[in-house]
Amino acid sequence: MSALPFPEPPLTDGTVLLRAWHEADEAQRHAGFADPLCQQFSWSPATPFTEEHTRAAFAQDEEGRLAGESLNLAVTDATHTGVIWGGTSIYDVDPRSASASVGYWLAPQARGRGIATRTLRLLSAWALGQLAVERLTLTCAPDNAASQRVALRCGFVREGVLRSHLPFQGARRDTMIFSLLPGELR
Ligand SMILES: CC(C)(COP(=O)(O)OP(=O)(O)OC[C@H]1O[C@@H](n2cnc3c(N)ncnc32)[C@H](O)[C@@H]1OP(=O)(O)O)[C@@H](O)C(=O)NCCC(=O)NCCS
Repeated sequence: MSALPFPEPPLTDGTVLLRAWHEADEAQRHAGFADPLCQQFSWSPATPFTEEHTRAAFAQDEEGRLAGESLNLAVTDATHTGVIWGGTSIYDVDPRSASASVGYWLAPQARGRGIATRTLRLLSAWALGQLAVERLTLTCAPDNAASQRVALRCGFVREGVLRSHLPFQGARRDTMIFSLLPGELR
């Protein structure tokens, strides 16, 4: 598989700008993703979530990108792109089935302003256009109401529930699954 390209120019709607992660973002990336809500809804939470996990993420991002499997981007303020609002990714990229999955998180101070919706719109449009993906999948926990609202607002369609999908806090939890097909993005 060939490496995934960084979107060039970076994806922006004038409010949000999605760009490659820089090492200088480490402290903000850590502070944002270490937030309890991000950890609660991460599908591979680390307890405790340390600076070491964040440092390792930079190398893992590049590994996934070079393998053509995933692309992780920083969600920044378009007017001050050194300000990190969160992160977003496209993963499980499979050119044979023209499919991929998307995810996102925001630091607490960036929530409640429609930033995740803007982020998901930008990344989904790029995946459907530049990567020629014909199915985008989005999964989230059944109690993640904000994420489900973001998905629906962008035009994702709820398909159902993956029962007992993941180990979670000593038990297993269900996962809600949504998808977006070409022509459905809002
Ligand atoms: C999910 C997340 C990215 C949403 O981003 P956001 O830009 O802050 O989204 P908003 O706060 O604008 O909320 C989106 C919608 O959910 C609603 N909402 C927010 N919190 C809610 C809650 N606790 N219960 C019910 N609805 C909620 C908002 O009212 C809004 O509704 P609207 O579409 O009718 O306006 C953010 O909450 C987050 O980072 N959570 C932690 C990480 C995470 O869950 N990532 C997604 C994993 S699938």
